[in-house]
Amino acid sequence: MASLFYSFAFIFLSSIFIHQPYVTGENSGDHRHIIKVHSLLPGTSCKDSHNGNSLKLVHRQGPCSPLFKHSKKPINHNQILAQDQSHVDSIRHRHRSSISTTIEPNKARRAPVAATKIPAHTGTSFSTSNYIVTVGLGTPKHSLTLVFDTGSDVTWVQCKPCSSSCYSQQEPVFEPTKSSTYSNVSCSAPACEQLDTSGCSGTTCQYAVQYGDNSYTMGSFSKDTLTLSNSDVLPGFYFGCGDNNKGLFGKAAGLLGLGRGPTSLVSQSTAKYGGVFSYCLPSTSASTGYLNFGGAAPANVKYTPMITDSSMATFYFLKLVSISVGGTKLSISPTVFSDAGTLIDSGTVISRLPPAAYSSLRQAFRQKMTKYPTAPALSILDTCYDLSNYSTVGIPTVALEFGGGVVVDLDFSGILYVSSLSQVCLAFAGNGDAGDVGIFGNVQQHKLSVVYNIANKVVGFGKGGC
Ligand SMILES: *[C@@H]1O[C@H](CO)[C@@H](O)[C@H](O)[C@H]1NC(C)=O
Ligand SMILES: *[C@@H]1O[C@H](CO)[C@@H](O)[C@H](O)[C@H]1NC(C)=O
Repeated sequence: MASLFYSFAFIFLSSIFIHQPYVTGENSGDHRHIIKVHSLLPGTSCKDSHNGNSLKLVHRQGPCSPLFKHSKKPINHNQILAQDQSHVDSIRHRHRSSISTTIEPNKARRAPVAATKIPAHTGTSFSTSNYIVTVGLGTPKHSLTLVFDTGSDVTWVQCKPCSSSCYSQQEPVFEPTKSSTYSNVSCSAPACEQLDTSGCSGTTCQYAVQYGDNSYTMGSFSKDTLTLSNSDVLPGFYFGCGDNNKGLFGKAAGLLGLGRGPTSLVSQSTAKYGGVFSYCLPSTSASTGYLNFGGAAPANVKYTPMITDSSMATFYFLKLVSISVGGTKLSISPTVFSDAGTLIDSGTVISRLPPAAYSSLRQAFRQKMTKYPTAPALSILDTCYDLSNYSTVGIPTVALEFGGGVVVDLDFSGILYVSSLSQVCLAFAGNGDAGDVGIFGNVQQHKLSVVYNIANKVVGFGKGGC
């Protein structure tokens, strides 16, 4: 009788799945995401849902990327995660070194660039897993695809004549002499003073940014018209015209700096956009997201205070207060989060948690996943499953609560890192030290509308942004 009941229930449930294909990724009501396993893998062709009123934001490596070249080499997840760790290490190093340098003003400032010893960590390294946008620079407009980075301030592009060195990029290199609106910035300009590292060549302001993995860019600090979209044009935008560039930026032409500092694009455009920008990071390399400046935020967005850490003025800090797994709040002392602090970064792949918070999350997640066979660890990810024999799986929901009672329910693509269907891992990692800063990384931000308002000092989150 019982078995008859169960087979009846099975047929009943199966028919729900058959008749409701949208159930993929749905939160099933019992605090699980019911997922079709094949939907965990990205498609091989781009599903472009971009509507044109904003900049299209895509994964650098994948079918939606203008820089993507099909290669037979499979994606090396161990390498992506190792690079992610060096990115996080460089944020941490910068955190510590910036604390020590606040005692002594930066002596490198205003020295001639030839003699400037660039501070070891004025930026962070870039993993291969990054997002890119295409903008226009100069008159006539020259299209350039740039790495999107909320963790640095200076926007820069490689510039001809590349008299020192340029790495190879996909698009033609920007030529200042061909733009009628280009001008150099003088050493005495206030904008030059605002750079973390600057120098003079004759009367022309020179900039330099060195990233954690020994990538760097330097050259003339310049001004030209930046075109974000047909209606969004910023004349006199300050950027670095990089004459000497080296590093792991892929085939991108440079970087779009969306940090909190005075030279960032957000700060430079406050008169036009009120210090507001928003984005949605697509969940796979075969789908599209957006980057938008100013404008009305989506209706479902809830705002949490943006916290300032004066030792890391470029970064956006948030107050993380709790984590829920499967609808149950984990018992983690709030001081675990407040002692470490939390920043949000588009360039970090996997979110980092204080060790006590991570072990609590891992334990709760593993308890709800016991029916699935485990798989070996993948680099920094130690909780992995073999889902290759399943067509549908139930994954516990994960929610992060931020200051002001803002609960962010993660998309299922923000909970799992998929190397292959036989190695699907919990996409969080623990910090080594309880004092290390926590990071809300880009996997966890998948499909959320994320709104930054530097004037009102708030960050907003909404569901289903892209
Ligand atoms: C800008 O400065 C560079 C180097 O200092 C110089 O070679 C170039 O001619 C200047 N360009 C303009 C438009 O003044
Ligand atoms: C998947 O199913 C096959 C065939 O039944 C079996 O040999 C294999 O061990 C299963 N794999 C896992 C991870 O359960």
